[in-house]
Amino acid sequence: MTLLVWQEDRHRLGVDAMDETHLAFADLVNRLGEATDPAAFQALFAELSAHTEAHFAEEDRLMAESGFPALVEHRGEHRRVLGQIAQIGERVARGRIAMGRAWVAELPSWFDLHAASMDSALAAHLKKASIGIAEKADVS
Ligand SMILES: [Fe+2]
Ligand SMILES: [Fe+2]
Repeated sequence: MTLLVWQEDRHRLGVDAMDETHLAFADLVNRLGEATDPAAFQALFAELSAHTEAHFAEEDRLMAESGFPALVEHRGEHRRVLGQIAQIGERVARGRIAMGRAWVAELPSWFDLHAASMDSALAAHLKKASIGIAEKADVS
């Protein structure tokens, strides 16, 4: 079943690298929602874990390189979620699939809020930063 319904107006932030990652994240969440076989669910959960680590590492890098003002708060939220993924992932690997399913079912509402708040602020900052550079280039 589709857990995360992608909403163009709300979830697409206008920074290609972030949007592509978020679309892939939504796809993984939905594949987890559709996985009926426990082994398939375990494999997909491991994939989600690796994907999310890379997703957050990339955003953390963009924040550091662009001097994003809310870096500490946003990075802290990423760490909190990675901690949960590690904890739930261990249980899923030990066969506690129902617990994994319950946690995955909560991810769409987490993503919806995170995309609309912290990621949206980062995307706006990145767009402003690149526009600033373009304007300077135009003047000179
Ligand atoms: Fe993100
Ligand atoms: Fe984020």
